[in-house]
Parts: sequence; structure tokens; C-alpha cells
Amino acid sequence: MAYSKIVGTGSYLPERVVTNQELESRISTSDEWIVSRTGIEARHVAADGELTSDLALRAAQNAMTAAGVSADEIDLIVVATTTPDMVFPSTACLLQAKLGIKRGAAFDVQAVCTGFIYALATADKFVASGAHKCALVVGAEVFSRLLDWNDRRTCVLFGDGAGAVVLKPSDAPGIYSSHLHADGSYSHILRVAGGIAEGQIRGNPYLEMDGQAVFKLAVRVLDECSREALEHNGFKGSDLDWFVPHQANLRIINATADKMGVPRERVVTTVARHGNTSAASVPLALDKAVRDGRIRPGHLVLLEGVGGGMTWGSVLLRF
Ligand code: ACO
Repeated sequence: MAYSKIVGTGSYLPERVVTNQELESRISTSDEWIVSRTGIEARHVAADGELTSDLALRAAQNAMTAAGVSADEIDLIVVATTTPDMVFPSTACLLQAKLGIKRGAAFDVQAVCTGFIYALATADKFVASGAHKCALVVGAEVFSRLLDWNDRRTCVLFGDGAGAVVLKPSDAPGIYSSHLHADGSYSHILRVAGGIAEGQIRGNPYLEMDGQAVFKLAVRVLDECSREALEHNGFKGSDLDWFVPHQANLRIINATADKMGVPRERVVTTVARHGNTSAASVPLALDKAVRDGRIRPGHLVLLEGVGGGMTWGSVLLRF
């Protein structure tokens, strides 16, 4: 049986940090409200002119260095993003050009905050099948550009960033399995409904969210898809070395970990300093825990995410 395996991770955060205290000075909110409801203390925000592909490039370069892989080895690029640089070409093609790569396949995946899970699951199929030999999988977002910064219900929650992994074929796991789900009947609870038509923005170009509906669905489906990955492979929550969940909200993360029986000290959380970076959140958290020495070769790691669509999913892997 052939598998794909993560051989390097990388990430990048824009320089500018927006703290809760800065938001307090701009809108009617408080550090206490934001921290008690979400666990978020600060988020990074991209500079004017800094594009998703710029963030993706930095994260990709860091992952390729960690993997010891040069650009000419990469034959597949999958980018998960909700905030592409442009309608087309895809951000994956723009990243490919920035990396100086001229061969292989490159495409984007759109599953909002579940994007990296979808992208990793997709690339795994291509690599484990032998069709591609070296894949770059990136989650990158400038979510700050989808926010109405006067809407306190949403703008406090999100941030910008990028994370990446390099995948190669392996005889041993590697990625055990991935489990993807979607239910489009929930599209109205989290969306950016606006789009461009005939040169005009049609509909609301800013993020709209029914926070409580998202919260309830997230806690339910994350537990389901986490259990699905563990049970499918004959593991229990207590077997996990590390749980790396989507970083939307500390209360959602803790509720999911508790339901699965994963001790809090085995949960990687970055939401306090990153906010919710959508498709970038899982690879950012993964890279942080790899670089600070918590996640080590041989560890059993569960990644999971939930986001607009609604979409959700999990990936169980041996690092
Ligand atoms: N500062 C101060 N007050 C606020 C803020 C704010 N930033 N935002 C909302 N409020 C007020 C509301 O106006 C409301 O006041 P009112 O009662 O006078 O009308 C009050 O706080 C309560 O609002 P709720 O929306 O009921 O607050 P809730 O306790 O549900 O918390 C939150 C909101 C944090 C968004 C919560 O519902 C949540 O975490 N939901 C999950 C959403 C999420 O994580 N989304 C991320 C994207 S999806 C994803 O990644 C999975």
C-alpha cells in the first residue's frame, strides 16, 4: 500500500499585528468580550498590496527549505484559499510562477476554513496513487479584506496568514485517511454573498455570519468527523499525540477535544495570537508545533476543520 507523507512544513504571518486593544479604540468592543467568547487576543493583518500569493510564497519557501526540496522537484501545487489574488488565474498558478516552476499541475481548492483539509486530502490522493511525486499544499488567506471593520460581530474574529506542507510518497503512513463532508443547505449561516458581475459588485461584499448557528454546527460536526477518522483506523482520542484543529474559537476547540477525550495539553492552539485565518489556520498551527519541537517524527496527529459551505473534514496522519 502506498501513502503520502508530510516531509516539511512552513508558515508565514504578515508583520502587522492588530490587538484587541487597538480594536477597542476603533469600534464598540472590549478585550474582555473578545477573549471570553473566543480566546482571541490579537491577529495579523496583511499590508496594502500584500497578496494571498505573497503570503503563500513565504510559507511555501519555508516548507520547501524544511523538506530539503527544490522548486524543480515540485510537480503539484494545491492552494486552499477563499481570498484569491484575482478571479483567475488561480492563486496556485500565480504561486507556481513566483516559485519559478513551469511544470506539473496547479489549482485552487475552495472550502473556506476547511480548505486546507480539502487540499491536503486532494493532494494525498494524487501522491499516494503515484500520479505525482512531490506536492506543495498551501492554505493562504487575506481574510481581513472580506471584513466590514465596523461590524464588531465579525471583524474581531479573523486574521491573515499562510501555512504550507510538502508531501512525498511513502511506503509507510503518512496520511492514514481523510474524511470530507459538506452540506450546502447551511450556506446562509456563513457567507460572503457578493460577487462581481458586469463590472459591479452585486450583493454584500462583506462576511455575514449567524455566530450561534455556526458554533452549534461546528461542535457537532467536528466531533463526528474526528471520531470518524480515529475509528476508521482503529484509534481512540487518547492514542493521539497531537490534535491540530481549525483555529476559529477556543471554546469550539476545547469542546471538541473534551468530547473526544483528548487532554488539553495535546491540543495545538494558536487562535489567541492568530485569530481565525480560515484555510491557513491548520497549517499555521501545525508548523508552529513542528518548529517548537512538540510534533516530532512518528507522532500520531489529527487535523480537522469546519467552515463556510458548510464544509468540514479531518485528516489522520503519522508525522
Ligand atoms: N464586542 C462586544 N460585543 C459584541 C461583539 C463584540 N466584538 N460582537 C457581538 N457583540 C454583542 C452583540 O451585539 C450582542 O449584543 P446584544 O445582546 O445587545 O444584541 C451580544 O454581544 C451577544 O451576541 P451573540 O452573537 O449572541 O454572542 P455569542 O455569545 O453568540 O458570541 C460569537 C458570538 C463569538 C461569534 C460566537 O457565536 C461564536 O464563537 N460563534 C462561532 C463563530 C465562529 O467561530 N465563526 C468563525 C468562522 S466559522 C469557522 O471558522 C468555523
